[in-house]
Amino acid sequence: MTTLAAHLAAAEVVICCGSGGVGKTTTAAALGLEAARSGRRAVVITIDPAKRLADALGVPGGLGNDPLRLDVPGNGELWALMLDTATTFDGLVRSNAADAEQAERILANGFYRNVAGSLSGTQEYMAAERLHALHLDPRFDLVIVDTPPTRSALDFLDAPGTISRFIDHPLFKLLMMPTRRGLKVLNIATQPLLRTIGKVVGGDVLADAVAFFQAFAGMETGFRSRAEDVMALLHSDVTRFVLVASPREDTIEEARYFAKRLHQTDLEVAAIVVNRCTPEFGEPPAKRPKPAAQAVLYDNLVELRANAATERHQAAALLSTTGVPRDVHTTWVPTLPGDVHTLAALATIRTLLFG
Ligand SMILES: Nc1ncnc2c1ncn2[C@@H]1O[C@H](COP(=O)(O)OP(=O)(O)O)[C@@H](O)[C@H]1O
Ligand SMILES: [Mg+2]
Repeated sequence: MTTLAAHLAAAEVVICCGSGGVGKTTTAAALGLEAARSGRRAVVITIDPAKRLADALGVPGGLGNDPLRLDVPGNGELWALMLDTATTFDGLVRSNAADAEQAERILANGFYRNVAGSLSGTQEYMAAERLHALHLDPRFDLVIVDTPPTRSALDFLDAPGTISRFIDHPLFKLLMMPTRRGLKVLNIATQPLLRTIGKVVGGDVLADAVAFFQAFAGMETGFRSRAEDVMALLHSDVTRFVLVASPREDTIEEARYFAKRLHQTDLEVAAIVVNRCTPEFGEPPAKRPKPAAQAVLYDNLVELRANAATERHQAAALLSTTGVPRDVHTTWVPTLPGDVHTLAALATIRTLLFG
């Protein structure tokens, strides 16, 4: 059975998934801490706009779209960033445009400014693009992805397919056509389909959209080939999916959903982390003490230990129905007395995960 440590050591990409509040962000940050401790140069990227990663890593100023190096123990390095969809999109336009003029034309375009960022799938697509770039970035040898706390967290697995479907769409082809033919302007009025769309969304919006797609011409090849690279990366042996759950029935039910979602894309869970378990406390003394006060504590301890054991037993039984193969390693992490809001608390989680 491959342990979490062995998966982490072998991986170039680790993706933490699971339902909201179970400890995905905490786990992602603790994996980063362990990777840095063992000499690797790790970067944790969060796709969740909530400031939880900065919080877990004890970064008071918060995280931005550029990786920030953290001061952590070990021979390796730990970096972290929070995905900013709009800034990432702008950067892609700049780095993929044929020249500065093409980049400026797109960046200034009304459709791009107001619509492109909010189109469904854009955030997921940018997450995939960012993963691609970080994986190739010579500063890092491990990318850890902290996914958002929603069921749609794994939609970025579809992002490469989304962009390909988009590029292959007849409407996209139609909008790109004039530049292909070397014409400067697409006459909306002469295209029956565009005339209809123009009536629905308004002529100005459509004119902006047409101008956007024309400005985009030539860049789609790079977008498509990176999308294919990401798909291959996610399916390769260097990517591992870590499923995080808590010992509660509802979060294990969600874990089942995520395992199924991965399976649909021909991907598998590599390791499971069950976080926020009832602590097991220590061994009680061999004999129940005589003094009443001590006897009460003894009884409490015995009861808590029994609860912890029952909880683990029930969670293990539920997990066995998630569709995750039985030989997948599960790590049990107890609830700490307080939240994980400092590097010191995170170091405790790291120890609980890896010993
Ligand atoms: N083992 C733990 N013990 C105590 N608190 C924890 C533990 N794991 C996570 N937390 C706390 O639970 C909350 C949710 O954790 P988080 O990692 O943000 O979950 P997610 O990313 O899955 O939504 C945070 O406030 C965090 O500090
Ligand atoms: Mg989170």
